[in-house]
Amino acid sequence: MFTSEMRESIKKVEATRKERMATEPRRMTAEEKDALLKAYHPDYRADGFAEIKVGPNKGQKAPRELTELLHSNSRLLKDKVDLSKVDYETDVLVIGGGGAGSSAAIEANEAGADVMIVTKLRIGDANTMMAEGGIQAADKENDSPVQHYLDAFGGGHFAARPELLRRLVMEAPDAIRWLNELGVMFDKDEDGRMVTTHGGGTSRKRMHACKDYSGAEIMRNLRDEVLNRKIPVIEFTSAVELIKDDKGQVAGAVLLNMETGDYLVAKAKTVVIATGGAGRLHYQNFPTSNHYGATADGLILGYRAGAPLLYQDTIQYHPTGVAYPSQIFGALVTEKVRSLGAMLVNKDGEAYAHPLETRDVSASAIIRECANGKGVETPLGSGVWLDTPMIEILGGEGTIEKRIPAMFRMYLNYGIDMRKEPILVYPTLHYQNGGLEIGGEGFTKAIGNLLVAGEAVGGIHGRNRLMGNSLLDIIVFGRNAGKAAAKKAKEVELGSMNLDHIDAYAKELEAAGIETGAVSPLLLPKYARHER
Ligand code: FUM
Repeated sequence: MFTSEMRESIKKVEATRKERMATEPRRMTAEEKDALLKAYHPDYRADGFAEIKVGPNKGQKAPRELTELLHSNSRLLKDKVDLSKVDYETDVLVIGGGGAGSSAAIEANEAGADVMIVTKLRIGDANTMMAEGGIQAADKENDSPVQHYLDAFGGGHFAARPELLRRLVMEAPDAIRWLNELGVMFDKDEDGRMVTTHGGGTSRKRMHACKDYSGAEIMRNLRDEVLNRKIPVIEFTSAVELIKDDKGQVAGAVLLNMETGDYLVAKAKTVVIATGGAGRLHYQNFPTSNHYGATADGLILGYRAGAPLLYQDTIQYHPTGVAYPSQIFGALVTEKVRSLGAMLVNKDGEAYAHPLETRDVSASAIIRECANGKGVETPLGSGVWLDTPMIEILGGEGTIEKRIPAMFRMYLNYGIDMRKEPILVYPTLHYQNGGLEIGGEGFTKAIGNLLVAGEAVGGIHGRNRLMGNSLLDIIVFGRNAGKAAAKKAKEVELGSMNLDHIDAYAKELEAAGIETGAVSPLLLPKYARHER
C-alpha cells in the first residue's frame, strides 16, 4: 500500500524508535508555542478571513466561507411563506438531531414540556456520531473540577467564558453518571471502574471512552431515549429561518422539507439551536472530519435574527486527520492513538514535538514540518508519521485491537496494519471554537427565548478546545438548554408572527453595498448533488 518513498521513510522511523522511546520529547515553552501558532496555525493566515459588514458582529472577522454565508440573503426573500398556516405547534422546538439536540429534547420532555426535534438529515447524523476518543470528567480521587477548569482554561488561551467553563467542568461528573445510567457502555476495568486516559493538555487521566467509537455509543443511547419517550422527530427537514413575533421574541421556525421542497411553519414558545459545526465549509480548503451536514446553519439563523457570535474567527484543526490513503483523506485519527503512546515523527524519523501538546500547537507543528520539507509526500499533499506500533510495544500485544478497534479496521480496509506500520497524518478541519454567544443558562444574549447548545455555541472553550470537552459540552449544555427552555416556555406569550428581520437584514446588506445572489443557510455542502 505504501509507495517506495514512504517505505524508505518508514525504515528511518523504525531505526529511531528505540531511542525515541527512551527519551520523551520535551514540552514547548509558552513563548515557543506562541511563535509556532503565529507562524503556522491557519487562524493566523490573514487571507483566510474577511470582514463581516452587517449584523451584530459588524467590523469583526470570520473565515471567508462563513462571511460569504453571513453576507447572503434568506431564501424566503423570494420564496414567500404563509405564517398563518401553522403546521406544527409546540412548547420547545429543538433544531438539530445530534447529541446536544437530543439531550435538550430529553430534558425538556422530562420537565413536562411539549418538545419536537427537527433535523435536516436523520436523528444522529451529526458530529456526535463521529466523535471517537472520549469525554472528559473529573470524577476520580486524584482529580477535581478545578483541575479540569485549569487545563481547559489554559488550553483555550484563557479566553473561555468563565461562567460557561465553570458549568462545563462542575456538571461533568453528573453527565457521565447520566450517560452511564442511560446505558452507555463505557470502558471499565474488572472492578467496574471507568478506564480513563490523558488527552492533549490534560494534567490528569480523565478521558472516559467507549473504545474509539465513544460518540457513536453515546448517540445510540440518546437516540433510543428520544425514541422511547416518543418525542416527535421530523427528519429530512431543515430550519431555514427563525420566525419572530412583534415583541422581538422568537416564535418558531420556517422549515423546508428536503425531499419535497415544501415549506412548513413550526410555532414554538422557545427554540433551541443545536445545529452543530461547520467543517463542510472547508475553510482554507482543508479536508474535514465532520459529518455531511456540518454547514454552520444555526449560526446563520441566529445571526440573521439578531444574536451575536463569539470567537467566530477561531477554528480547530485536529492534528491527526488521515493524510494517506487518499480514499479516507481528512478522516479523524483519534487523539487516543497518541494517548496510548504513539509519537508524531517526521520523514527523517525525528520526534519533533511532544505528542500530547494541545491541538492547535500539535497541528501547527505538523504544518511546520511539512512546510519545511520534513513531511512525507502523499498523492494529495504531505503528512507526518504517527508511530502506532509503539502502542503495542508500550501497552502489550493486542492493545490496538482492544482500545482502538475502529481505527484498526479503518486502516486494515486499505491494507495497512497499524500494529506493524506507522500511519500518515495531517491536520483536518474538526471543530468551530466559536459560535453564538450565550449566558450560563444557555439563552442567547439578544433574544430572551432563543437558546443554543453544542458546537453552535461560542465561548465555552475559548480559542482552542481540549479533546473530550465537546462530547461533554453537548451533554452539559444540551441538558441545561432543555430544562431552561421548558421552564421558559411556561411564561412566554407569543405575539403575532413575522419575518420582518429578513427584510431588515436584506436592507442592511444593500446599504453595505453587498449584492448577493446567494442564499443561506447552506444546508448541504457545495458539492452536494441536488437531484430534484
Ligand atoms: O481525537 C478525538 O478522538 C476527538 C475528540 C474530540 O474532538 O473531542
